[in-house]
Amino acid sequence: MDRLDRPSLATLAAHAAGDPNDDARSLAPPIDLSTTFERDPNGEYSGGFVYSRDDNPNRRALERALATLEGCIEGAAFASGSAAAMTLFQALRPGDHVVVARDSYYSIRQMLDEVFVPWGLAVTYADCSDLDALGSALAPGTRLVFIETPSNPMLRITDITGAAELAHRSGALLACDNTLATPVLQRPFEHGADIVVHSTTKYLAGNHDSMGGALVAARDGELWQRIRTQQRLCGAIPSPFASWLTLRGITSLVPRVRSQNASAFAVAEFLAEHSAVLEVLHPNLPSHPQHALATKQSTGSGGLFSFRLRGGRDEALRVASRLRLFRRATSFGGPESLVEHRASSEGPSTRTPDDLLRLAIGLEDPMELIADLERALNARA
Ligand SMILES: Cc1ncc(COP(=O)(O)O)c(C=O)c1O
Repeated sequence: MDRLDRPSLATLAAHAAGDPNDDARSLAPPIDLSTTFERDPNGEYSGGFVYSRDDNPNRRALERALATLEGCIEGAAFASGSAAAMTLFQALRPGDHVVVARDSYYSIRQMLDEVFVPWGLAVTYADCSDLDALGSALAPGTRLVFIETPSNPMLRITDITGAAELAHRSGALLACDNTLATPVLQRPFEHGADIVVHSTTKYLAGNHDSMGGALVAARDGELWQRIRTQQRLCGAIPSPFASWLTLRGITSLVPRVRSQNASAFAVAEFLAEHSAVLEVLHPNLPSHPQHALATKQSTGSGGLFSFRLRGGRDEALRVASRLRLFRRATSFGGPESLVEHRASSEGPSTRTPDDLLRLAIGLEDPMELIADLERALNARA
């Protein structure tokens, strides 16, 4: 077989915008701002679009790219990662039971507690990094298990294959938030997941300039059809411009994520040796309690990891304040490295240790990031 018949992910992503299909043969696709599309005299919509909430050219191109990246049938794009998760939960019915990883992203747990539990969803939080705990949380009415691996910001790992087997055995589907590892480093469908969730705000868009989210499905089915109906009727969709920015980000996703993953590991190795550091939470360090599982199911964890300081909260805040290259901001996946004291961002109900700093490694020279951290850690109070 010709090598080009089965292109690599890097090649597929670089060409994710597809072939030019406008009159000018533009390689960068045009942004189609139209909210409405004209019928033919016979009443048909031969252009294939009716109204932009239902579908529009930029969103359709993005959704195709999302499916290609994850290697499956269909993707659906949303206005944010939270809107994607919201749509997934809305596609269930009041009374349904879901098992959710206890350390999945803070705002998603808040969304469940404040919106979906009052709406009628029965939610059980479980430590999904422990398959026995996950198994015990399943009940006859469980429709969905929602995991995030690696998790943000504790970098815990859930065994995707094990979680999928348990979910399927009890008649539930497995949704996996793949935001941190991205399809470049982890392929949840190959481990049995049914739905993949992304905040495309992070690595897929990749530039700290565009909010978005995605749901991607391993196969068509009732849940997928309900997701599509929710997307169309409730309209939590990305604008044409946001879709265009995210698709542009996808074209450079593979080299960016590989570079961020390698730099993050170099920075984590440096921190692990520093006397001011209590612990580095990075799945690719042999000291991580789930190192073997992490390396079995993924080829890296991306640019995000956390570390804890011996001097507690005050020292964590002092170190963050002394950094010069790292920007003090939330989020991750962009070119600039970021530092965040997660406990302060999450507020009083946080479960994140207050001596923890989360680092989002960007595209700078990793030796310069290490120099910045070294100076901040060694400075006298
Ligand atoms: C793992 C994970 N999932 C989902 C989200 C929510 O995405 P968004 O901020 O795009 O709504 C985030 C945001 O940080 C996240 O880190």
